[in-house]
Amino acid sequence: MSELNGKVAVVTGAARGIGAGIARRLADDGARVVVADLSEDAAAATAAEIVAAGGEATGFGSDVSDEASVASTVERIAAEWGGIDILVNNAGIIMDNLLFKMSVADWDAVMGVHLRGSFLWSRAAQTFMVERKWGRIVNLSSTSAYGSRGQANYAAAKAGIQGFTKTLAIELGPFGVNVNAIAPGFIATEMTRASATRMGMEWDDYVALYLPQIPARRVGEPADIANVVSFLVGEDSSYVTGQIIDVAGGPVH
Ligand code: NAI
Repeated sequence: MSELNGKVAVVTGAARGIGAGIARRLADDGARVVVADLSEDAAAATAAEIVAAGGEATGFGSDVSDEASVASTVERIAAEWGGIDILVNNAGIIMDNLLFKMSVADWDAVMGVHLRGSFLWSRAAQTFMVERKWGRIVNLSSTSAYGSRGQANYAAAKAGIQGFTKTLAIELGPFGVNVNAIAPGFIATEMTRASATRMGMEWDDYVALYLPQIPARRVGEPADIANVVSFLVGEDSSYVTGQIIDVAGGPVH
């Protein structure tokens, strides 16, 4: 068993995509993983796959943007698993539109999931971490934070996550809690497939459009992000905190 043996790791938005990849990896690393997502059935299905593969996991239905939902999920985790050692704020949505067509609802929804969600979960989780004098928080930013046409809401939220990450690192560092963010580039998931569909493009054509801009000449997979999360929640990164790590197959800015 690896170094995460016995640690409780919560991954939000982990029923599919990057979050599911992270949950699988942390379970492989020996963590007890809470798969949290909007649908308890979907979360439970991903947790069941992890268990079938020999890991330890449970699935909870939980909305990161809802204060009461986060609070009740944290209570369940505390009751069943004894607390939280590792938190990965991964849940995300996109509501893309050019600024002049962007509705207030689209703005608020994106802020609610990415910023309010990361805030609510981090505030709850740090209580256990500070008491234990050990913790790890990894936030999912995006290379869209550096500017992305049609994503004023998403870019602002993902840039906000970067400031949030550095600030938590400053506040929680003295308590043995490291806080970092990963800014993925193009990762093949349902989120990017939905973007292709919205642009009226076949997946292969959409990928071909982006490949020339990616020095690695491939799109990323959830495992590319999970590998870096694995490093950031382990002991080898214990002197790395408050950092934003682009995982994008090349330099981005
Ligand atoms: P995805 O759309 O495949 O999965 C997102 C998951 O989050 C879904 O299971 C969804 O149900 C869940 N979720 C959405 N709203 C939620 C809420 N209110 N409460 C709980 N769960 C909720 O997306 P993907 O691609 O796996 O993205 C994961 C994270 O990585 C997101 O934060 C995204 O913004 C970020 N990211 C993704 C990139 C990509 O190219 N796919 C690039 C950069 C960042």
